[in-house]
Amino acid sequence: MRAMEYRGPYKVAVYEKDIPKIEHPNDAIVRVTLAAICGSDLHLYHGLMPDTRVGMTFGHEFIGVVEEVGSSVQNLKRGDRVMVPFNVYCGSCYFCARGLYSNCHNVNPNATAVGGIYGYSHTCGGYDGGQAEFVRVPFADVGPSIIPEGIEDEDALLMTDALSTGYFGAQLGDISEGDTVVVFGAGPVGLFAARSSWLMGAGRVIVIDHLEYRLEKARTFAHAETYNFAEYDDIVVEMKRATDYLGADVVIDAVGAEADGNFTQHVTATKFKLQGGSPIALNWAIDSVRKGGTVSVMGAYGPMFSAVKFGDAMNKGLTLRMNQAPVKRQWPRLFEHIKSGYFKPNDIVTHRIPLEHIAEGYHMFSAKLDGCIKPVIVPNAG
Ligand SMILES: NC(=O)c1ccc[n+]([C@@H]2O[C@H](COP(=O)([O-])OP(=O)(O)OC[C@H]3O[C@@H](n4cnc5c(N)ncnc54)[C@H](O)[C@@H]3O)[C@@H](O)[C@H]2O)c1
Ligand SMILES: [Zn+2]
Ligand SMILES: [Zn+2]
Repeated sequence: MRAMEYRGPYKVAVYEKDIPKIEHPNDAIVRVTLAAICGSDLHLYHGLMPDTRVGMTFGHEFIGVVEEVGSSVQNLKRGDRVMVPFNVYCGSCYFCARGLYSNCHNVNPNATAVGGIYGYSHTCGGYDGGQAEFVRVPFADVGPSIIPEGIEDEDALLMTDALSTGYFGAQLGDISEGDTVVVFGAGPVGLFAARSSWLMGAGRVIVIDHLEYRLEKARTFAHAETYNFAEYDDIVVEMKRATDYLGADVVIDAVGAEADGNFTQHVTATKFKLQGGSPIALNWAIDSVRKGGTVSVMGAYGPMFSAVKFGDAMNKGLTLRMNQAPVKRQWPRLFEHIKSGYFKPNDIVTHRIPLEHIAEGYHMFSAKLDGCIKPVIVPNAG
């Protein structure tokens, strides 16, 4: 089969690879019909994620058709159209039983923090991902769902991560009626978090980025006020000004460890790797939220971190909430919001790229070229 493979930082291409096989009775093999590139894939692409092995196929957002099932699979059969959450999880351990699917205890022998994620390095279990013609789906009775009637393919695809994560980010913000919510980052996760915040009662939603074309999307898609942080000496002071000098009630970090905005931090953190990543967005979140407010962190950070304003968070009495999204937990509500028309997730898709051209897709999404917000990968584009 054809599959994307990692060959080192900034080097990915499509190669011929063996079609994955059933390795456990509860596996399924899925023929991928659509995949996507996520902001999280960029951390791998940039070589920032520990133990990203040459030869790995990335891709944790995908949908497809069941090709084959193992002998114990009961919920799926050959030919079913399925959407697969980015988490690999067992569904029955202590953590899964509490809905913490992203922290499953049974799927990742290397870590006691994160569970399994498709195509996300051996730090996250070493599972090959879906930027390929076929993918092995472990625990096939647990993660995948048959795509319901009325949900279009690209919308289902976006529910496997970006939409569910943005919605989860707003949920963790614990938004009360009338709250002011500030979202750092106008990528797919930030855009969906902003739009979700209204559903949870926000009275005001502000999105911050430095890419004008994404801020434009935040205005039209998420109906948010927007600020371009590059236009202000200090975006935190500007946020104080915008909130009667109190700070926002809730701040959502949808940026993560590769934040721009402070040249020295960016260079020491992401180029020279002297820090575990750049904490700029997280620190801006801690500084922009009011005393007693909540910071919800959806942006991804590596295991070790430095220079976070933890003392300020403590002394302000903040609530910090975060996790990799337990994707499937969000689906029942999101199906309703899509069917009701509140969400049309594929409004944010800007590019549809044949798998053969995935290297260009990574380059474009990473360098934020050509107005790219969300690239969808099509394995059999013909
Ligand atoms: N928690 C989860 O389950 C989960 C799931 C998906 C993605 N993520 C993470 O969420 C983050 C966003 O993902 P995405 O797909 O939207 O990525 P993306 O790269 O498309 O978007 C990130 C945006 O942040 C902007 N940005 C950079 N520095 C900033 C700053 N200091 N302040 C404000 N904006 C800034 C960028 O210009 C960009 O538009 C990534 O870190 C990704 O790894 C986490
Ligand atoms: Zn992702
Ligand atoms: Zn589990």
